[in-house]
Amino acid sequence: MIEFPAEPYRIKSIEPIRLISREQREQKIKEARFNIFKIRAEDIYIDFLTDSGTSAMSDNQWAGIMMGDESYAGCRNYYHFEETIRSITGFKHIIPTPQGRAAEHLLFSNILKPGSMVPSNTHFDTTRANIEFLNGEAADFVIEEGKNPGLVHPFKGNIDLSQLESFVKKNREQIPIGMMTITNNSGGGQPVSLENIKKASEIFHSHGIPFFIDACRYAENCYFIKTREKGQQNRTIKEIAREIFSYADGCTMSAKKDGLANIGGFVCVNDDELRTKITNNLILFEGFRTYGGLAGRDLEAIARGLLEALDERYLEHRVGQIKGFGDLLLAEGIPIIKPTGGHAVFVDAAGFLPDIPRGQFPAWALTVALYRAGGIRAVEIGTVMFGKKDSTGKEVFPTLELVRMAIPRRVYTESHFKNVATIFKQIAANRNSVKGLKIIYEPPFLRHFTADFEEL
Ligand SMILES: Cc1ncc(COP(=O)(O)O)c(C=O)c1O
Repeated sequence: MIEFPAEPYRIKSIEPIRLISREQREQKIKEARFNIFKIRAEDIYIDFLTDSGTSAMSDNQWAGIMMGDESYAGCRNYYHFEETIRSITGFKHIIPTPQGRAAEHLLFSNILKPGSMVPSNTHFDTTRANIEFLNGEAADFVIEEGKNPGLVHPFKGNIDLSQLESFVKKNREQIPIGMMTITNNSGGGQPVSLENIKKASEIFHSHGIPFFIDACRYAENCYFIKTREKGQQNRTIKEIAREIFSYADGCTMSAKKDGLANIGGFVCVNDDELRTKITNNLILFEGFRTYGGLAGRDLEAIARGLLEALDERYLEHRVGQIKGFGDLLLAEGIPIIKPTGGHAVFVDAAGFLPDIPRGQFPAWALTVALYRAGGIRAVEIGTVMFGKKDSTGKEVFPTLELVRMAIPRRVYTESHFKNVATIFKQIAANRNSVKGLKIIYEPPFLRHFTADFEEL
């Protein structure tokens, strides 16, 4: 029996959604040139595009919004935000930012030089892009198990410690910081073990390299540590979090994930000099150090959301809901990355649509099929997003051809997941009718957002 945990909350405010007719969906997808990013959100029935900034806020957070102090300097919500983040992370300086990538830019622009290298388990796209923008190199060392979709391992987000050690020894002078992304978004939302974080930190510190955590989904990661790692079962999520952060010298975070907020982020550092440099840039680009480009009410929503995300019943439901959805798809024979991670279910589109050659973008074709069949929006994580062209202009394929179904926090219920599983079943029954695509327009960077396609 597939189990869905009961929600540890009840619904008091709703947002209507509607499924437009098959003919209308056909028209919308054609108008969008087969790119689901170009479809209006109101024409989507179930939106699994991202878990970022899409959470439902609690009554407590909405009440906090009304308590926004919009003073330019020193607003009370900043002090609540600072005190909350310090109590979770233990870091000395807490600097608010508009979102995660702004935190990354502020950090990297103050410590990277052209030619710098930043090793990690797997950098998220914006992290990688911010490093490469400064002419640095973003190096990924996730363990081999993390690259095998069908293989079950409790911590597929772990970094390969021996590869890391030799990379650090070889390139010590080029490495201004080391990083870890928890959970590993680009690697399937897979968690990292406490032991692995500790050992990676020891490697960096033994070479005098500061260690930073990309903490977007740290609370989900802590829940996996608590439930999967030996000796962690009797600890609270907050105790585990404190230990994780105690191994680091700072962190970046998008509060749009485990901050349960719709906007915001922060960067934390222990180093006083680095804090001064970052704060000076913050004032230049985003705003004064007690608001960082956010409204006082946003800071309050984040402070309250961060505390709610530490609630174990919430995390148990979150992780259980994603597992339940994964199990529904597995029961229909849909190949997914196993085990399910903390924020999304990833479908192996190349396995699901084996007759569509990779040059015709099978994962993209599946996103089109999902919209057509059920008004569902999911995102391609395959050749359109990560493919590179060789010197002759030929497409070089990434390892996997995935469709990510990212689950917004506290938004959808079991019946929505069942609906999506039914749509998958229908597509599977007619998979021969799913068409490959060709690109008719693409921009030079991040082509998935704006490319146009034609069906073959
Ligand atoms: C692991 C990770 N790091 C950084 C970011 C960037 O955060 P933001 O979208 O708030 O700029 C994201 C966003 O999805 C993420 O998943």
